[in-house]
Amino acid sequence: MLISHEEIPQVSQNFMNDTHKEDVDIINTIFEAILTFEKENKDPETIDTLYKEWIAHTIDHFTTEEVEMIESEFHAFPMHKGEHDRVLAQMNEVFEAWQKSRDIQVLKVYFIEVIPQWLNSHISTMDAVTANHIGGGMMPAYGHM
Ligand SMILES: [Fe+2]
Ligand SMILES: [Fe+2]
Repeated sequence: MLISHEEIPQVSQNFMNDTHKEDVDIINTIFEAILTFEKENKDPETIDTLYKEWIAHTIDHFTTEEVEMIESEFHAFPMHKGEHDRVLAQMNEVFEAWQKSRDIQVLKVYFIEVIPQWLNSHISTMDAVTANHIGGGMMPAYGHM
């Protein structure tokens, strides 16, 4: 397992926590498939299918947060959306690189060195502040957002 449920920072909106849990489940499943491919060197399409599911889930995850921000007129919307767009573009770039090269190290390094750290810091900063704003009344805890 790459990321345990206990490692996911909790925010004040449960619909967001639920989505983050689903996200981690997909990430862990892909990581298992990466390790299997590394050992057996066959069926790269298994990874492709899972990765496409992950992109679809992520688009849905990000869009839902963005709609909530627009509806609650959150001032940090452009910054949060910018970060979503950047990460989604990177996710697509890594997928394309993997499909072109079939070099499993491209994916392995990305999943070990980028994804867990990004998810943790994104949830504990931008998502946490967004969740508090949706909840109403609380001031953003991060002035730089
Ligand atoms: Fe999120
Ligand atoms: Fe987010």
